[in-house]
Amino acid sequence: MSSILQQIEDLRNEAINCQKCDLAKTRTNVVFGEGNPETPLVIIGEGPGANEDATGRPFVGRAGQLLDEALRECGITRKHVFICNVVKCRACIIEAGSIKNRPPRVEEVEACFPWLLKQLEIIKPLVILSLGAPSANVIIHKDFKMTKERGLWFETPYANAAIAALHPSYVLRQMSQGYPEARDLLVKDIESARRKVIELKKQISNK
Ligand code: URA
Repeated sequence: MSSILQQIEDLRNEAINCQKCDLAKTRTNVVFGEGNPETPLVIIGEGPGANEDATGRPFVGRAGQLLDEALRECGITRKHVFICNVVKCRACIIEAGSIKNRPPRVEEVEACFPWLLKQLEIIKPLVILSLGAPSANVIIHKDFKMTKERGLWFETPYANAAIAALHPSYVLRQMSQGYPEARDLLVKDIESARRKVIELKKQISNK
């Protein structure tokens, strides 16, 4: 069996040619994901936006900058985690002559799911942090209610434990009074994921 790194690279090379749904027709790049595939912590967003589509890298726009800041506040860098999305290609529509992001359709999420599943089967994370409800709907349970359920721990078939946090794009959309509070919650949930990794590693080493 090849190394985890090699398995992820082999999967990336397969995924970049994916034609399983219509998003293949409009994408510039497949945004497979990046970071450390030997990590205990995988972070999963919804899907790439314009910057990610242009660069082929996840979370490189404003939301990504906020995510990097929030991770840094918890002592985490991109080298410590693996960051990817539920859908690997940008979902967009043309509205009044300009291209806008749109939420991925159910059939697009379903078509893309085997890539995410294979990523998680290779990485075998201890903890998954879902960013936003669309990711939590896939990883934790359907109809996830971010207001009531963010910051709570759930069982998942894809890791030892899963938690959901506010999506950084949602945090950025909050008006002046709401912003610091939403940002604090994002940092708090990332910190909670970090601590859970430590707790689970201890449990495993004591077995
Ligand atoms: N939002 C996401 O959900 N994923 C990205 O990669 C960028 C923005």
